[in-house]
Amino acid sequence: MVGTVIVKEETPTSQEFFFVHEGSVGKGGYVEYGEDGKVIARVSEVYKANEYFEDAESISESDPRESFPVDDWEVSIARAQIMGCFREGMIERVNEAPAPGTELDMADPGRVEKFLGLAENGLKLGEVQQQDVDANFDLTDTLQKHFAILAQSGAGKSYTASVLLEELLDRENAPAILAVDPHGDYTCFAEDKNYMKDVKVFRDDDVSIAVNNLSADKVDAYFDLTPAQRRELSKAFSELEKGENSDYGLRELRSVVEEREMNSSTRYVLLDTLREMASMQVFGKTDSPSPNDMEPGKLNIIDLSETINHRKKQVVTAYFGRRFFRLRRSESIPPFLMLVEEAHNFAPEKQPSPSKTVIEKLAREGRKFHASIGLISQRPVKLSTTALSQCNTKFILRVTNPNDLEHISQSSEGITSDVKNQIPGLKTGESIVIGEAVNYPTFIDVRERRSEESGAGEGLEDTLEEWKQEQESMDEDAEAFM
Ligand SMILES: Nc1ncnc2c1ncn2[C@@H]1O[C@H](COP(=O)(O)OP(=O)(O)O)[C@@H](O)[C@H]1O
Ligand SMILES: [Mg+2]
Repeated sequence: MVGTVIVKEETPTSQEFFFVHEGSVGKGGYVEYGEDGKVIARVSEVYKANEYFEDAESISESDPRESFPVDDWEVSIARAQIMGCFREGMIERVNEAPAPGTELDMADPGRVEKFLGLAENGLKLGEVQQQDVDANFDLTDTLQKHFAILAQSGAGKSYTASVLLEELLDRENAPAILAVDPHGDYTCFAEDKNYMKDVKVFRDDDVSIAVNNLSADKVDAYFDLTPAQRRELSKAFSELEKGENSDYGLRELRSVVEEREMNSSTRYVLLDTLREMASMQVFGKTDSPSPNDMEPGKLNIIDLSETINHRKKQVVTAYFGRRFFRLRRSESIPPFLMLVEEAHNFAPEKQPSPSKTVIEKLAREGRKFHASIGLISQRPVKLSTTALSQCNTKFILRVTNPNDLEHISQSSEGITSDVKNQIPGLKTGESIVIGEAVNYPTFIDVRERRSEESGAGEGLEDTLEEWKQEQESMDEDAEAFM
């Protein structure tokens, strides 16, 4: 036995009770009671009480510590939220309050695991807090209906996503992965000797979009054409498709637009659009990453950290998202996960954008085809509500901004005010998991990663130290040269 239910503040109820304990129960722990089935409750807060310190006047007159062994009268009290009753392998709602005086035990770890809906062979992202239970999430539950990792900057989003990537890459059976990586947070996987064989990084120069996979509609989605311009461009594409050279690029497209008969102002704008496309330096004759790169258990990273043109980032994300989704629907590529860092920039709530259209489409239609998305964002308020509400599993780390907090709780079923109130106080690496992958909101400590962390998030001091050492070694080299 660890504690006893007491009467306090209109409790016990069928939802909540307080209990006294010996100080052995921590916040976030699970307790249980009951003969016929076990009711499981989660400790949401712990308190201390001591009646000798309740009376302000008597303390100011004479310190009770001098005459009484007051420490012996200190009691530990905990508040617990009833989650449900586990009876013959089934979870039931609890409609009755525990009787005052009910004796409590620490919950059995195996029961907690089943209760939370954790999977034996799942993605092991860490441990359930205050409980000796691995935080294992079923692969299908986590990915199929999409997931989001939400938190303010520095709370551990990229770290958590990296742990998840490790779990996927270490599995025998995993989807292909396409990571849109605006800051190069994940390129470190390509330098880690345990992971490098499964990882390809596509830097700015390596990314290429095959013009012969484009259509007037796609160009319209990226560059906004008028109906007349779209019509003419569409004819130009058909002419190229009918031609002998199926391997055409931007230059061939431009020749056709220059030579075809059309209204001169339409031609003028189209040529201007083609010039803008050329200046992006991404339209070529092949797709890179190519559909062949989308193999099960392989991680393809589009590293946009050196890409300055914002529209280019959007176009690249939109193009590969749509292309791979289409190929997935025809089963030409395996099931895949598209991970998008800084998702609020690629699927902003307020402005239309080519990548937003694609991300929302994947969010709505992807699951039938095993095309999943994982959205990572530090500004959930700015992220497309359509996309976010389709992310059925959410990993929520520390969030203190009230607007973001409100937005998260509105877009997530199952966040009680009790859970919501704990989000601002989470420490780095602590996460609440809610939604499809669990039966109840689950507090976890994200495990340490196995792969080398990238230098992108390094502290100022480390970076300064490295800089100094590099300078010194350069000076030494220079001296040696003289
Ligand atoms: N689970 C964890 N265990 C240990 N360190 C962590 C954990 N999560 C985050 N960190 C550390 O906290 C810092 C911020 O994490 P990061 O993932 O870059 O945050 P974010 O992407 O949310 O801005 C990093 O230096 C990282 O090493
Ligand atoms: Mg990050």
